[in-house]
Amino acid sequence: MEQSHIALHTAFRVGPVDPRLFGGFLEHLGRAVYEGVYDPGSAHADEDGFRRDVLDALRRLRMTGMRYPGGNFVSGYHWLDGVGPRAQRPTVRDLAWQSIEPNQIGTDEFMTLCHKMGWWPMITVNLGTGTPEEARNWVEYCNSPVGTRYADMRAANGHPDPYGVRLWFLGNEMDGPWQIGHVPAEHYAIRAQQAAKIMKDTDDSIELVVSGSCNPELPTYLEWDRQVLEYIGSYADYISLHRYVGNEVGDTLDFLAVTNSVDRQIEAVDAVCRFVQGKTRNHKRAYLCFDEWNVWYRARTPKDLDGKGQFAPHLLEEVYNLEDALVVAGFLNSFIRHADVLKIANLAQIVNVIAPVMTCGDQLLIQSIFYPFEMYSKRREGVSLWPVVNGPVYEGKTNGRATFVDASAILNRNRLHVFAINRHLDEAAVVEISVGDRDLIDFEEAELLTGPHAQAANSFESPDVIRSQPFAEVRLNCGKATAELPPLSVTAMTFALA
Ligand code: AHR
Repeated sequence: MEQSHIALHTAFRVGPVDPRLFGGFLEHLGRAVYEGVYDPGSAHADEDGFRRDVLDALRRLRMTGMRYPGGNFVSGYHWLDGVGPRAQRPTVRDLAWQSIEPNQIGTDEFMTLCHKMGWWPMITVNLGTGTPEEARNWVEYCNSPVGTRYADMRAANGHPDPYGVRLWFLGNEMDGPWQIGHVPAEHYAIRAQQAAKIMKDTDDSIELVVSGSCNPELPTYLEWDRQVLEYIGSYADYISLHRYVGNEVGDTLDFLAVTNSVDRQIEAVDAVCRFVQGKTRNHKRAYLCFDEWNVWYRARTPKDLDGKGQFAPHLLEEVYNLEDALVVAGFLNSFIRHADVLKIANLAQIVNVIAPVMTCGDQLLIQSIFYPFEMYSKRREGVSLWPVVNGPVYEGKTNGRATFVDASAILNRNRLHVFAINRHLDEAAVVEISVGDRDLIDFEEAELLTGPHAQAANSFESPDVIRSQPFAEVRLNCGKATAELPPLSVTAMTFALA
């Protein structure tokens, strides 16, 4: 393939990369909580019943925040069911996933988990069957000093100090007809505004994410966001975006070009935020929060979505391959390129349910999508630089024209991280990297993720088919770098700048 060129300049700064772009999402769904992070009967259980092996694997991802407890689940969830003495907590039916929820993990256990993992807790309130007052009471339970009812309840449950949960989500996917309590935009806007006011009255330091249109294919796309933002005004610190993508027709090249439409989705929602800010003459604008994103299309049949009245059923147990890992890297490139407006993102999800980590009994498996997240997350500190990629292009059938090489870059003082995906199915990409105003003076290290073919995947029997490895094939010459990236690969490279 003809050479590609990634051109950078340290003055072309998109914005600081918010560490919250590297968040996760844990929902009471399938085997995510029970048999996932929490399994007191496992040989790996720690003193609190959390699985050490799962937590150790997740630690490698250096996730910063964790969204909880749903997802669709939250729209029928009452947080009071999940606090207090465990023996007295009710077992209830979860109608979102038709499962049994014993409430053995609730707010306090989630906070313990966040504490162990160094995650910022991020809570979604129930605006499906829940009331604004219930949402506000949850803020008091989590954040208020003792002296009033719910803060005292927290203290009585063994936690006198407030948890200080800063980020709260006003419901989940409320424009989706499948959502419990789904309503038209104007109804949701009223409900969200009522909740927002009393939540912020309870703790004015919190930040709120309004539920945006959750899928570019729905008729509500963008129009919902406009209506809700116009009504709720300054209460909206962020608006949420969701996106699940898949290769339903087996067209790898087109699938890999889906990054184009992730870019477009971010830019379109950003345009709505700017439009509303202009129209309402507000000094404040809402920023973007991509609080659910991933590849998810195989484990989406009716049997994958229906828990059939079981406890911890096998739901959404997607098996990930190499091309999925490249798409996950593509999402991250897009997020970094939009660091000026996108402040938060949560990989959905973390274990067993559309997840980088799977368990089977006491065994643990790292899936392909784990690696790009790990490779990017460990190099995330700094400022995003706008990458201009010149080189061979192809035409994706539905996602349009794409360069074979997709890139992003983060500058951290004199250190530069460059992330490059080679989407070519069978040809290496020779890539030249240059920084217009500075020389690259040292190649520090790099990691590569590739595999035998696009559909290659890890399994409990063969766990190391897809894994990242050190990459040394990078040369420096006259202040520029050249690397030969294998076909279907993701590379993260770190350089020192003059
Ligand atoms: O992450 C799985 C589900 O996908 C979430 O519960 C919901 O918000 C989305 O539709």
